[in-house]
Amino acid sequence: MTDPAFGENLGAVAGALEAFIEVSRAADRPVLMLEPIGDLIERLDLARWARSGGLGGADLATFVERYLSACTALHHPGYMAHQVAVPNLTGALAGLVDAATNNAMTVYEMGPAPSAVEFFVINWMLDKVGWPPMALGGDASTGGGVLTHGGSLANLTALIAARNHAVPGVWETGVTPGLALMAPATAHYSISRAAGILGIGQRGIVQLDVDSRGAVIADRLPDALARAAAMGLRPFALVANACSTPVGIYDPLAEIAAFCRSNDLWMHVDAAHGASALLAPTRRRLLDGLQDADSFVWDAHKMLQSPVLCAAVLVRDHRTLDQAFQQDASYLFHEKDQPGVDFGRRSFECSKSAIGLRCFLALAALGETRLAESVDRQCDLAQQAYELIAARPGFECAVRPESNIVCWRVEGDDALQMRVRAAILAEGRHYISSTMFAGKRWLRLVLLNPATDIEHIAALMDSAERHASLSRAGSAPIATGG
Ligand SMILES: Cc1ncc(COP(=O)(O)O)c(C=O)c1O
Repeated sequence: MTDPAFGENLGAVAGALEAFIEVSRAADRPVLMLEPIGDLIERLDLARWARSGGLGGADLATFVERYLSACTALHHPGYMAHQVAVPNLTGALAGLVDAATNNAMTVYEMGPAPSAVEFFVINWMLDKVGWPPMALGGDASTGGGVLTHGGSLANLTALIAARNHAVPGVWETGVTPGLALMAPATAHYSISRAAGILGIGQRGIVQLDVDSRGAVIADRLPDALARAAAMGLRPFALVANACSTPVGIYDPLAEIAAFCRSNDLWMHVDAAHGASALLAPTRRRLLDGLQDADSFVWDAHKMLQSPVLCAAVLVRDHRTLDQAFQQDASYLFHEKDQPGVDFGRRSFECSKSAIGLRCFLALAALGETRLAESVDRQCDLAQQAYELIAARPGFECAVRPESNIVCWRVEGDDALQMRVRAAILAEGRHYISSTMFAGKRWLRLVLLNPATDIEHIAALMDSAERHASLSRAGSAPIATGG
């Protein structure tokens, strides 16, 4: 029999969540409030509940309400900070279904439904780039993929596949000195982490020249290769951005693909943020050349409204991913007659959540067309924000956006930008991030929120201007940090 409290608890949690989302959407609470962690542990009474047990019913409702009061409110129209989706609420239910069923899906028999959804989601993504879908039985000509907990792990997985493909036997022998990869300095930090993990090291990253927007200069690729050779390095892969993390600019993928083909380099595209432009007919051209890459990653929890985390590693030839990991785990992987696939063979992770369901429920709730419209809407809003900010005296933008990321600063030094950000966060009406780009500190908007419109951005600029002048005058009681 089901735990009789389950239904009641479900209702309590649902009620608290509904209230939290409503209040957040209406901006009737601050978008974020940073309480000291020790106070929070006490306010939530964590030690008492851990000791006594018995949390449920009305107590659970109170606990969840308090917990939510200390959560950052992504549904608030002032949330414009990071590359994390405002989750579609049907998609959000995937977390509940998954946690209650716990189908950890390393092997098919531990999660037929999650495996089927993952198989479908991967093939849906392969279709968007124009690669043939995976098939049971593994025809040599098909694409392949696996879902991972995040783009960082997805990048690592793709680069392991690339290294194993370029250096047969490396899994047994380990890497030899000189193995390298090529990437722009604007690559996400997970690429340099992957280089550390892969045994290439930071010295094994050959930096690609970029233009003033941080995009790879294709004409300079031969120079980079010559530089690598002069240093005794042997690059096996090149990583391109689609788009870059700091400012959201796309590298020239078609030209990079041609260079990789003629130099026998694996082309990996970190499209964690920008692959969603594949859905939008008006923006797809930014990804021209992606179809000629060997692998790319695509995070559904960025622009596809999926709850965290749901990232995909996609490869043009599925066999390369099958060689990424070689394991002996006789308790899981053995000959068996089954009508499905063991995704655990392709994944660094052993047990894994049913992450495909997060992407799929959001996709199924909205449908492809509305999802594409939402990608377009957020990128159009970034253009509008750029026009508004660039035209405002005393403000400057880093680049004209190609995605939904807008970087800007007020007149003044880097320290002033950080003081302005801290003051804005302390007000609680807007939550923005910041980044270094081209040697300067910028304030950064990532426009993922369907509830944010140009009026919210105009109000943010008014606040920034006010805080900047107070700070310049030295009279502002501005919070530090940020
Ligand atoms: C281009 C790019 N790649 C990878 C990542 C890492 O993704 P995740 O946070 O899902 O690990 C990010 C995160 O913002 C990113 O912008």
